[in-house]
Formats: sequence, structure tokens, C-alpha cells
Amino acid sequence: MNAPADLLVTNLGELVTCEPALGEGPLGVIKNGALAVAEGRVVWVGPASRLHREVVTCAEAREIDGGGRVGLPGFVDSHTHLIFAGSREHEYALRARGASYQEIAAAGGGILSTVKATRAASVDELVALARPRVRTLLEHGTTTTEVKSGYGLTTADELKMLAAAKRLGETQPVEVHANFCGAHEIPPEYTGRTDAYVDLVVDEMLPAVAERRLARYVDVFCEDGVFSVAQARRVLEAGARWGLRAKFHADEFVTLGGAELAAEVRALSADHLLRARPEGVARMKAVGVTATLLPGTAFFLGLPYAPARAFLETGARVALASDFNPGSSMGPNLQLVMTMAVSQMKMSPEEALLGVTLHGAHAMGLEEEIGSLRPGKRCDLLLADVPNWRYLSYYYGVNHVSRVIKRGRLVYER
Ligand code: NIG
Ligand code: FE
Repeated sequence: MNAPADLLVTNLGELVTCEPALGEGPLGVIKNGALAVAEGRVVWVGPASRLHREVVTCAEAREIDGGGRVGLPGFVDSHTHLIFAGSREHEYALRARGASYQEIAAAGGGILSTVKATRAASVDELVALARPRVRTLLEHGTTTTEVKSGYGLTTADELKMLAAAKRLGETQPVEVHANFCGAHEIPPEYTGRTDAYVDLVVDEMLPAVAERRLARYVDVFCEDGVFSVAQARRVLEAGARWGLRAKFHADEFVTLGGAELAAEVRALSADHLLRARPEGVARMKAVGVTATLLPGTAFFLGLPYAPARAFLETGARVALASDFNPGSSMGPNLQLVMTMAVSQMKMSPEEALLGVTLHGAHAMGLEEEIGSLRPGKRCDLLLADVPNWRYLSYYYGVNHVSRVIKRGRLVYER
């Protein structure tokens, strides 16, 4: 027997549960829906007409009138680099004149320019810079986000970034889970000595991060000119020994075999995959690794998109995330990411919405807690001012989210 409901959300033109068993179609849509919540968790979903017959409420229960809006699960952004200092709008202009992301990096710009600024910032400063970004995420419907380190590249600076992530998670409504990405780039002190830097990551940074419980995941930029497959394997296997699940940058610019590595190490997700082989993604599918696509990055860098259809044909689970970062994707809006997925990668609107909800939750290993609205899960709920859920990606470039409920609490209202 459930606890009596302490929150009812009624009068939803559509309630998109993202659980096919609970409604119509692959998204489990309930027309004229309602939802009941107890102690921050969903206890009931169904047609509004049955709510009062089927749900016991406590005396002080609150009611939110959905006003005919569409209700849907809070978005899960499973790949971001939203903690950083400095900014790189000049690189964006250089790219418009023909420079590539890699050329800019080789000339001392790119990740290393953000490293310089981030090393110079304190925890307080990093938190103050990131706070309005997270607020923007929340306003656009993201209720859970992954945040990476990787702009410190010394033990102290990586710990500093992760301390900032922890504080961010504790001081505003968006749930934050940290990914240790010490192997994001080779710092200037280690130029030409990548293996020695990997030693530092494995022998010093990882234990320091894990002992302080500052991260849930481990990442590595497995890329030509950065970390090879063998070096990435070392980092990810060492992370696993410390209990960190692998979630990493794979086959972004060059086909290196990152997808295959993700399958081999049983990663939670392999991300980017612009250049991944569908056969590699098929191997990921065989062992349950989520393929996380970041179309905002291809859009912002002007690159061809990941072959999402080929990946979907393998049966792999495809998540979508923002990759929000100052260099390759300065955009936090997952509604726009869905539009890119549909118009550029030919994903269906259903696949796109699952990509930023349930499949994003899988990419973070949180699928039992969030990502859909089924009884037992946390009530992370968005109300959107749209005539039906398809408008979320169809009517693009605007923010449709007007209310956000996190763990059963109204945390944003426009
Ligand atoms: O996901 N690929 C590596 N990391 C980021 C870019 C970070 C940056 O440019 O600052 C990415 O694209
Ligand atoms: Fe990234």
C-alpha cells in the first residue's frame, strides 16, 4: 500500500510517461492525464477521471492544476562540461573563417585555454560561474545532469572542479552527478609524455577522487592526438577498480575503436560517436552500453552528424545530451537538441524524447530512479505550454517549459 498522496497534478492535456505499458504508443501517452505523488515519488498515473476514485490523499495534499498543459519526465542531460572559467567566443569566430576544432587546439586554444582559466579560479568562483548555467538548464527542463571535471589536469585542480560540482548539487534543485575526466587533455607540463600523464591520472588522481567520493563516473577523451585506445583502457579499468563506471568520449573526430572499447570495458555509455563504426555500436548493444549522441556539438562545430539511424538499426539504446561546454557546444537546451536529432539525424520525435529522458537516465545508470513517470520513481516532472508533446521539438528555438517539479517540489515556475 502506498503512502497517501501529498501532491496531485491534474488537468494535463497529455501525460507523457515514457513507459509504453502505462499509455499509448512508445511514449506511453495518457490523454487528459493526472499524477499523484507521495514523499517525492510517483505513486499513481492515469486518466484524470479516475484520480479521485483510485488515489488516497493526505489532508494537507497540494494540487497543481496543469491547465491542459503537457506533462513529461524531467530531462536528463547525461553529458556536460558546465563547470569552467573563461570563455571561447573568439574560437567560434575563427571556425566560421575556416579553422577546425583540432587546429585551434594545436595552436594553444581549445581545451587548454579553458584549463588555464579554470586553474586560476577558486571553488567559490567556479560555483558562482556555473550556478546561472545550471539555472538555465533547469528553466529548460533539465532536472538531472552529469558534470565533468577535466579543465584542471592537476590533482588539486581536478579535485577543485569536483568539489565545485558537489557544492552545486547541494545548493540548487538540479541533481548533479560528477564524472572524473582528468584524462581530458594532456596538460602543457606533460607535452610529449602522455604515458606519464596517464600514470598520474591512474596512480594519483583516481585514488584521490575515489577516496573523497567526489565522482560516480570516469571519463577519458579517447581521440587521435589525445589518449589512445590503450591509454583510455588503462584509465577506464583503473576507474572500475575504484568503483567508477565508465562514461567516455569515443570516436568523436576519428574512428579509433572507442565504441569497441566501450563494449569491452562494459561502459555505461560511449559518447559522441560521430565516427564510430556501426559494428562497434552493435557490440555495445550486445552488452547493454548506451550510445550517447551529442548533435549540438556537430551543429556548433559544423561537422557531419552521427549516423543515428545506423546505430538504432543495431538495436542499441540511443541517448541524447547537450555536451554543454565553452568550446564545442555552448548550448544547454535539450529541446533544441531534440530538434537537431529529428531534423538532422532522422530520429523519430519519439526516439528523440526518449533520448533526453529514459535513455539519458540509462546513460547515467539511474534508470530505476528517474527518466520516466512510473510509480516508484522520483517525481521529476515538467509542464510544457504546447498543444501536444510533438511540439517540444517541432516548434523549435523557444523554451516550452513553464513549470518544473523536482522530487515532488515545484522548483521553477514561469
Ligand atoms: O565533448 N571532446 C572533448 N571534450 C569536449 C570539448 C571540450 C572543450 O572544447 O572545452 C567535447 O567536445
Ligand atoms: Fe564532451
